[in-house]
Amino acid sequence: MLILTIETSCDETSAAISQVKNNKIKLLSHVVSSQIKLHAKWGGVVPTLAAREHMKNLVPVLDLACKEAGFTNPDKLASKVDLIGVTQGPGLIPALLMGVSFAKALSYAFRKPLIPVNHIEGHIYTPWVKALPKKLSLSANPFPVLSLIVSGGHTMLVEVKDYLKYKVIGETLDDAAGEAFDKVARILNLGYPGGPQISKIAEIGASKYNFPEPLKNDPRLNFSFSGLKTAVLYKALSISHGKALKEILKKPPKPDLKIPLPVSEKRALAKAFQETAIRSLVNKTIKALDKKKYKTVILGGGVAANSLLRDRIILEVKAKYPKIITYLPPLELTGDNAAMLAPVAYFKWQKAKRANTTQKFFNNWKNLEAKANLRLGES
Ligand code: KG4
Ligand code: ZN
Repeated sequence: MLILTIETSCDETSAAISQVKNNKIKLLSHVVSSQIKLHAKWGGVVPTLAAREHMKNLVPVLDLACKEAGFTNPDKLASKVDLIGVTQGPGLIPALLMGVSFAKALSYAFRKPLIPVNHIEGHIYTPWVKALPKKLSLSANPFPVLSLIVSGGHTMLVEVKDYLKYKVIGETLDDAAGEAFDKVARILNLGYPGGPQISKIAEIGASKYNFPEPLKNDPRLNFSFSGLKTAVLYKALSISHGKALKEILKKPPKPDLKIPLPVSEKRALAKAFQETAIRSLVNKTIKALDKKKYKTVILGGGVAANSLLRDRIILEVKAKYPKIITYLPPLELTGDNAAMLAPVAYFKWQKAKRANTTQKFFNNWKNLEAKANLRLGES
């Protein structure tokens, strides 16, 4: 079975072609066109600019994905592909609309079923794309799975009871983890996206500062990163302004305030921020494992590229629950990509086949709607 998938929920235009064979998913081609440079000068993603870029890039990205998979052009793929999967949401609506409209047109032209995929679901199933251990074959039972999803838009703990069955058991009450990395990077004048910059300089930072761990003593599984970000801001201001800080604080600091800081101070602040943010993510994950028996832990989302988080989650889960297996997404699939949609499209197709409801996917070329706030399990 061949699956073509398309992702445009934020600032990456991506297409992938996957093959399902012998109970495994093989990635035949995977193309990601990133718009990071375009948005960097605005300090974050501009939705209308992102949509314009998706419109420009979708055809060349699909062409390249076809060529890499051995099809000279999309026409050659048309007769061979079995399913088309697309990110329906959540995400930026102008960006989502581009991918969904494109996929609808392909579904109509190729006369192939179109399967909507939730972006978060894609992040959850990323280890199925490449890890390929037996325990994650397409018929395996790794459930119940505890999934920690950490991206620029979301931070959540999800109980995956079975294929496609979700319960969100913890969420951020304010900023997402990736958003906090991006905002702290802005405070430290490090550029966008902030996650990779913060982790790079944190590695060589001195252990000089400590920030309180957010919601540490709260038995619930929610996260909060906004207070931590503000704590970094005030620490940075007190380092740069010393005794004059009182005067400065008479007015709230402007969000685009440039704080002059020596490099060593930036490194130390990045280290302390990263340490606290990662500690909070890992501790809440362990708390979730204390509450219920899980077989597997899965990490997903852009922040899953963070090496401190990767190391800590493996170590701490293993130390307390040696029988639980933790899967990390391959580094090249931590950010937004179309490859991660293929397992979800496949599982949804199988489920519809069992229920005799596959016709709905053939009608999606006209029915499917992009949804900015799509909830897990909603479609
Ligand atoms: O999943 P993703 O690519 O896009 C969304 O769906 O949001 O996540 C992007 C986020 C950004 O906030 C970026 O700063 C963060 O992931 N990120 C990192 C690292 N690499 C990317 N955060 C911390 N450490 C990293 N190494
Ligand atoms: Zn994402």
